[in-house]
Amino acid sequence: MSTHGNTENMQNSSRDTVRPSAPAGAHSGVPAVAIKDVHKAFGALHVLKGINLTVNPGTVTVILGPSGSGKSTLLRLINQLETLSGGEIDVDGEMVGYRHVERGGQDRLQELTEKEIAAQREKLGMVFQRFNLFPHMTALQNVMEAPVHVAGVSKAEAKARAEKELARVGLADRAEHYPAELSGGQQQRVAIARALAMDPEIMLFDEPTSALDPELVGEVLGVMRSLADGGMTMMVVTHEIGFAREVADQVVFIDGGVVVEAGGPEIIDNPTEQRFKDFLAHVL
Ligand SMILES: Nc1ncnc2c1ncn2[C@@H]1O[C@H](COP(=O)(O)OP(=O)(O)OP(=O)(O)O)[C@@H](O)[C@H]1O
Ligand SMILES: [Mg+2]
Repeated sequence: MSTHGNTENMQNSSRDTVRPSAPAGAHSGVPAVAIKDVHKAFGALHVLKGINLTVNPGTVTVILGPSGSGKSTLLRLINQLETLSGGEIDVDGEMVGYRHVERGGQDRLQELTEKEIAAQREKLGMVFQRFNLFPHMTALQNVMEAPVHVAGVSKAEAKARAEKELARVGLADRAEHYPAELSGGQQQRVAIARALAMDPEIMLFDEPTSALDPELVGEVLGVMRSLADGGMTMMVVTHEIGFAREVADQVVFIDGGVVVEAGGPEIIDNPTEQRFKDFLAHVL
């Protein structure tokens, strides 16, 4: 953990635990996520133009950038909801989507099977701006759904796990409620519990609080902070600068398809690049 200067602007946060993660650079093992010269184009629109980024296990990376800069696209590429136009992404030391094969003495990339891709995706939990809970299912049933129907876990085991995850996000007493009976903040916490129930190694958050009323943001950030304190590897797209300052090990500012500036959370208060300065002046 780096030292942080300013600690204002944190809602609902009692930081009385020390994160078990090692300081940046102290990891000798395999990165949780390695993004190598990643390009993504949608037709003629070249959105990502050579992104390089390493996320170490047990660390929190906050991704900042203006609207349309490709932040969601980057997370979707990691989770294989989009296909790469160039470059490589490794999760846990394993290239996503492809394997190297030798054909005619040449190294080529072969697409993985759907089953292999599904296995890779199970390492990742994703939380979106819109929670997308099933409206006809209770909170508990929403959290049980993927373990039972995707992972093939028994209903009894999935229920026990779901209860544990709902308790972890502070919703033990809302298990039998339907989404329409829950606030936005509670629904988003159910969505986090739902991702956690699949036992992911890495959690990807795409603007998890930006659809919430301001008074509900803090409870969701509080859950994310406690996940970070527990050592979860996280990549978080957010405009919550206070959260970035307090919880991030690494802050990455993306604009124009490239990483413009990256470093510890101290870069928020001491940006170098003009584009990052301008962005911060907007959001702070
Ligand atoms: N499936 C798609 N087809 C075509 N264009 C797309 C697609 N997905 C994203 N784009 C375009 O790629 C660019 C980057 O989109 P992306 O959603 O990744 O941006 P973002 O940084 O997440 O923005 P925001 O802060 O508004 O969420 C945008 O111009 C967007 O319109
Ligand atoms: Mg987005």
